[in-house]
Amino acid sequence: MKTLLVTGGCGFIGSNFVRLQLEAHPDQTVVNVDALTYAGNPENLADVADNGRYVFRKGDVTDREFVESVLKETRPEAVVNFAAESHVDRSILDSGPFVRTNVVGTQVLMDACRTVGVGRFLQVSTDEVYGSLGETGLFTEETPLAPNSPYSASKAAADCLVRGYHHTFDFPAVVTRCSNNYGPYQFPEKLIPLFVSNALADKSLPVYGEGTNVRDWIHVLDHCRGIDAALRNGTPGEVYNFGGECEMTNIALTKLLLKLTDKPESLITYVTDRPGHDLRYAIDCSKAKRDLGWEPEVPFETGLAETVAWYRENTEWVDRVKSGEYLKYYEEQYGGR
Ligand code: NAD
Ligand code: DAU
Repeated sequence: MKTLLVTGGCGFIGSNFVRLQLEAHPDQTVVNVDALTYAGNPENLADVADNGRYVFRKGDVTDREFVESVLKETRPEAVVNFAAESHVDRSILDSGPFVRTNVVGTQVLMDACRTVGVGRFLQVSTDEVYGSLGETGLFTEETPLAPNSPYSASKAAADCLVRGYHHTFDFPAVVTRCSNNYGPYQFPEKLIPLFVSNALADKSLPVYGEGTNVRDWIHVLDHCRGIDAALRNGTPGEVYNFGGECEMTNIALTKLLLKLTDKPESLITYVTDRPGHDLRYAIDCSKAKRDLGWEPEVPFETGLAETVAWYRENTEWVDRVKSGEYLKYYEEQYGGR
């Protein structure tokens, strides 16, 4: 592939993916389309800004004229759609931007790709479209969609549109669904970067409910390698699950983070639970292992320790992103805590 276009490349996973693409595919140009919302930070890609194979175009994926003009200008062989509103709690406060970017944005991108003739489209989706598990069982690609939050509903709606475009127009799309990512450059509204940055600042760690909810953690680079494999070797019309095979309750993870930051458990504050809080996510990723030759490689202990070290070393990055908009959101979500 000569040119790949990604959307949302200034966010957490997108920026890790762009960096990986530039390293792993030395003959390929990467075009990054990002609207630079509160979660999009060009600083995340400052180290590649001068790379001659990196092109940035600021703009909104819901703007059809803009999207089509960038596709015509750069002529990518493939598009990977990361652009999204990604935080569940924000979708509970206001679902409007989620429907706009996650649903309408995906539709606009696919229509523009069809018009210009892009050969492959990868929709970056989430395990949250499957809803919640009880104490046992795993999500497979056959698990029925049963989203429980405005965020996951918007992602499921986008997945349904992708399915419909593939079925109706033979649109060459692949969908990937991954569990909870962690790693460098994650916006400190999500559990791990929020709790690490709060702990380092001796602030309380707001655990929802009793902390018994379970998430399946995967290092962001393992997710990015999976997306790359699905992009190049996945079959159009197929869905591929990725997970870290690393289930943990929120409270166990919180205590581990306090150990890694050398902070006391007295920083833990139990706060009102998230409305509609999904109990447990866990992924069966045997299809990706079998069909794509992919598997998670980063051991959780190593990945988590490196991630904590990254946040320790990048306090200026954390301070800058925890700016005006973040403070307003924090006040609305957590009150005075
Ligand atoms: P993020 O919030 O860190 O980044 C989202 C990026 O999209 C930002 O750079 C933002 O500026 C950009 N964006 C938002 N609206 C846009 C618009 N209208 N036009 C153009 N750009 C826009 O998100 P993330 O955590 O990196 O997630 C990336 C994708 O991966 C999302 O689609 C998310 O649903 C999916 N996903 C995330 C996880 C996770 O654990 N974080 C797991 C599975 C799937
Ligand atoms: O599963 C994949 C999904 O993982 C992605 O699709 C989403 O984009 C991503 O945000 C993430 O969703 P979660 O809701 O699972 O992640 P979050 O980091 O917000 O929360 C993880 C768990 O921690 C969840 O059970 C809620 C809990 N939590 C979260 C926050 C922010 C707390 O207890 N306190 C908090 O302050």
